[in-house]
This record gives sequence, structure tokens and C-alpha cells, in this order.
Amino acid sequence: MKAAIYPGSFDPVTFGHLDVIQRASNMFDELTVSVLNNTQKSPLFSVEERVNILKEATRDIPNVRVESFSGLLIDYAKSKDIHVAVRGLRAITDFEFELQIAQTNRKLSHEQLDTIFLNTSLEYAYLSSSSVKEIASFNGDIYPCVPEFVAKLVYQKYGFENR
Ligand code: PNS
Repeated sequence: MKAAIYPGSFDPVTFGHLDVIQRASNMFDELTVSVLNNTQKSPLFSVEERVNILKEATRDIPNVRVESFSGLLIDYAKSKDIHVAVRGLRAITDFEFELQIAQTNRKLSHEQLDTIFLNTSLEYAYLSSSSVKEIASFNGDIYPCVPEFVAKLVYQKYGFENR
């Protein structure tokens, strides 16, 4: 069985992430989308909330499962016997950082974890979770960026209940 992990913060999941998930799910028998439990960041949504949001957003894709992980990606991948990580690349600015992480993971895992990159569809190339949060914090329009139910949850976090 061909399996892959798509790790990330997903705080919150955007249409860009969902585009990568949809396309990667067509390439693998099973795709595990995994939310990093990063104690050094203070996220908008808790890990549990992000996992639940991702489950809802991917409910129509049968070969996608959603989990969370802590610690190193290579250890988590090893525990699941998965050897491929998927990451999205929006622009050349993502590339340098992503290449460094991919090479580190390949080295650290003794070549047991490879990373493949999907170029984000052009229509979503401008999107990031950070900009979604900044726009929402000023009551701007995030409906083009995230699914409707996610937008409502983000607005709630910023106290805009009826957006
Ligand atoms: O959505 P993000 O925040 O860009 O995702 C980053 C993520 C979760 C893929 C990356 O930070 C990660 O894998 N962190 C786990 C710790 C780790 O394994 N780091 C790689 C060695 S530098």
C-alpha cells in the first residue's frame, strides 16, 4: 500500500491545503493529514479543534485520515511505517525553507523519509493561514480563502459572531 503523510500546522486549513490534500489523495492509497502539536507556538485553534476541522473538511475523501503528532516528523513517520511526506510549494520563497527541512528529514531518517512537493494551484498560491488570521482579525473577508464553516469558526475566535 502506498501511504503518505501531509504534516502541517493547519491553523486554520485553507483552500490551498485542501487542494494539496485532494491531489495527494489521488496519488496514494492512504493519506494521513497530521497536525503538529507545537508547544512553542500559540495557535488560534487547539490541536483538537484543528483535527476536527480537518476531519470535517475532508469528510468526502475516503482515503484521508486526520491525526496529530508531537516531536519529530521522522519519528512519527517511522512509528506509522510511512516513508513519504507531502508538502505544498506556493512560490520560490517557500522552496528554500522546505528544501532544507526535506534534506534534514532525509538525513536524520537515514533516507527512510522522502518529501515530495506539490505546487499549489495558482488560484491559491497567495493564500496562507497567517494572512487568513490577520484579515479575519480586522473583520476582513476570508470567505474566498477557507471553507465557509471554517471562516465562521475563525470569525468567532476574533469575536465577530455574525460575519
Ligand atoms: O504548516 P507548517 O507550520 O509550515 O508545517 C511545518 C511542519 C509541521 C511540517 C514542520 O514544522 C515539522 O515537521 N515539525 C516537526 C518537527 C520536525 O520534525 N522538524 C524537522 C527537522 S528541522
